[in-house]
Amino acid sequence: VTERKIDSIINLMTLKEKMGQMVQYNGSFDLTGAPSEIDGNTKLQKLRAGEVGSMLNVLTAAGTREAQENVMKYSRLKIPLIFGYDVIHGYKTMFPVPLGESASWDLEAIENGARIAAVETAASGVHWTFAPMVDVSRDARWGRIMEGGGEDPYLNSVIGVARIKGFQGTDLSDVFSIAACAKHFAGYGYGEGGRDYNTVNVGISELQNSILMPFKAAAEAGVATFMNSFNEIDGTPATASVYLQREVLKKDWDYKGFVVSDWGSIVEMINHGYAKDKMQAGELAVKGGSDMDMEGLVYEESLVPLVENGSIDEALLNDAVRRILRVKFNLGLFEDPYKYSDETREAQNVYTEAHLEASEDIARKSIVLLKNENNALPLKTSLKSIAVIGPLAADKDSPLGNWRAQAVPNSAVSVLEGIQNKLGAAVEINYAKGADLAIGERAFIQPLKLNQTDTTGFADAVAAAAKSEVVVMVLGEDAYQTGEARSYTDITLAGVQQELLDAVHAVNENIVLVLMNGRPLDLSKPNEQVPAILETWFLGSRAGNAIADVLFGDYNPSGKLPVSFPRNVGQEPLYYNRKNTGRPSSDLIFYSGYEDSSIEALFPFGFGLSYTSFEYSDISLGAETLNADGTLTASVSVTNTGDVAGKETVQLYIRDLFASKTRPIKELRDFKQIELEPGESKTVTFVITPKTLEFYSANNIWETEPGDFEVMIGTNSMDLKKAAFSYE
Ligand code: IFM
Repeated sequence: VTERKIDSIINLMTLKEKMGQMVQYNGSFDLTGAPSEIDGNTKLQKLRAGEVGSMLNVLTAAGTREAQENVMKYSRLKIPLIFGYDVIHGYKTMFPVPLGESASWDLEAIENGARIAAVETAASGVHWTFAPMVDVSRDARWGRIMEGGGEDPYLNSVIGVARIKGFQGTDLSDVFSIAACAKHFAGYGYGEGGRDYNTVNVGISELQNSILMPFKAAAEAGVATFMNSFNEIDGTPATASVYLQREVLKKDWDYKGFVVSDWGSIVEMINHGYAKDKMQAGELAVKGGSDMDMEGLVYEESLVPLVENGSIDEALLNDAVRRILRVKFNLGLFEDPYKYSDETREAQNVYTEAHLEASEDIARKSIVLLKNENNALPLKTSLKSIAVIGPLAADKDSPLGNWRAQAVPNSAVSVLEGIQNKLGAAVEINYAKGADLAIGERAFIQPLKLNQTDTTGFADAVAAAAKSEVVVMVLGEDAYQTGEARSYTDITLAGVQQELLDAVHAVNENIVLVLMNGRPLDLSKPNEQVPAILETWFLGSRAGNAIADVLFGDYNPSGKLPVSFPRNVGQEPLYYNRKNTGRPSSDLIFYSGYEDSSIEALFPFGFGLSYTSFEYSDISLGAETLNADGTLTASVSVTNTGDVAGKETVQLYIRDLFASKTRPIKELRDFKQIELEPGESKTVTFVITPKTLEFYSANNIWETEPGDFEVMIGTNSMDLKKAAFSYE
């Protein structure tokens, strides 16, 4: 029925109206790209003329109603607008940044977080989020690494799907469901040197097996839209890639939703040296399968003349419009274009206590204990004195992270406040900032200036540390050090933070380092100095409470790294699922390594400690051979050998020893979370099927090749039990 209705609308549309559906304008505020070339009044006239199909960054029940009215009252066909917005880790209630949340490996909690974000977004009039980002990201220099699920294709896939389910719910027409968007299609996380928007050179095998795997999973999960990416890939801007958008996405994966360009990515093909002018950019983008032009002002100028002069077939526009209308229908906008614009719902559903509690819950689960020498943690509430030191210790803004949608600045619970809430007045809390991390104004839209010289606060910090039993140092990154265009070549502690740590360490070595950051940092030096390190990312609205719960043992940390932490920036891009090479790294010369560094991470993918310890048995296999129509079980027994209850994420990796394309030395293929009381053991069984072993082969299809495999199970990507089997 919907398809017939779409047909009848398309039959009524003029060429200009078809073009209009493919145009997306930015609203009047919240720039998330370069400022527009046209003014608000011109945009208004175009809305009324039915020459705009979507807007981004238009918010609130009242604001979206007002924009929608311009179309519904004045345009000829009254096709409702779809409103999009970057709801990346919460709308007003902030959840951990996606990389941090991924460290929970808790798919249910992640789905719940996305659901809450959807409820707040939908209640504010918005239909569509530009999330999840499922770019496999392996370079800590890249600022947007904080926006995704890290370095592993499988983990990105299952987390991406959890987020899509949360945003879209089971029914897109539900008034609390919003359309999701799998982005950035494709290769955006592979920019050379970790530079944003930079050139990507990968072959088909890496593209399909690593980069595209999460996008394929997103398409299969029914994600409503895709966004293409700014980068070129093997000489073709993704925006114009027939291979990616028409062959793989729309043909091989039979995808029925639409593809929106990234902000201006169509016009940027001129800078890429791929299109000579806007006309050619429009032609290449539409032929390549980009259905909607985000604030690039190319489609509005080029599509009508391109059809009229015969350069493109009108059928291409019909296909794009059909896809866009389909999503609008599925959202229920044709039944009621104002269904999301309801002030009462908005007042009741945004930033509620229940949402804040859910954010605190996943914040706790996202914390990763990286080091805990001599059980330095948890701290005892019977302490007499504690110093809380560092530029991020009392910071109520950075925990909100970048891409923070409608978060209220300075609204997070700081680490200092979390500790104060936990300890009350009985313990002496000696706070000192020590140093500023950034200088001047901090904002999404401008570069961050780091403090590289001012150490005047060091004396207070040293004094606070000297008179305290234990020091909690909160160091890391300002929220605006990660995110779009925040690439860095130095990933050690920024500014004067290492010097501050050195100064404090000189008077008190009993330091718990609490890190706040959105990318893997080089922690080699701090790791030699301090007995305990807690990775807390940017945890959102209730960060401080969650951190205090872990510091004082009210929550036993269970997070596992979704990304490798390097020994030095020279190792980047660094990822556990690398290829073996013909000369695998060794201590000898003429092997593939570094003369001045190990090739292994300081803290590997999947790593995270607990206040208890877990022991793994050897793997027991159900059989030594897996058949094409069969299954194979691989089990381990895990025992809690410590004194407190704990949660463990048991990870399963596979290695395909010989294949028609070289395969990584190990690849995550499944994981399970278990809770164990002290002394308790549980058997964890994984079921391996031919699909578990599938990859994009030399035949250019997804298939499982017969041969020998290794299965590895363990607590992180380095510490694994191993068994062998074959597939026939
Ligand atoms: O969704 C974003 C994208 O990730 C980067 N460019 C701007 C878009 C819209 O804000």
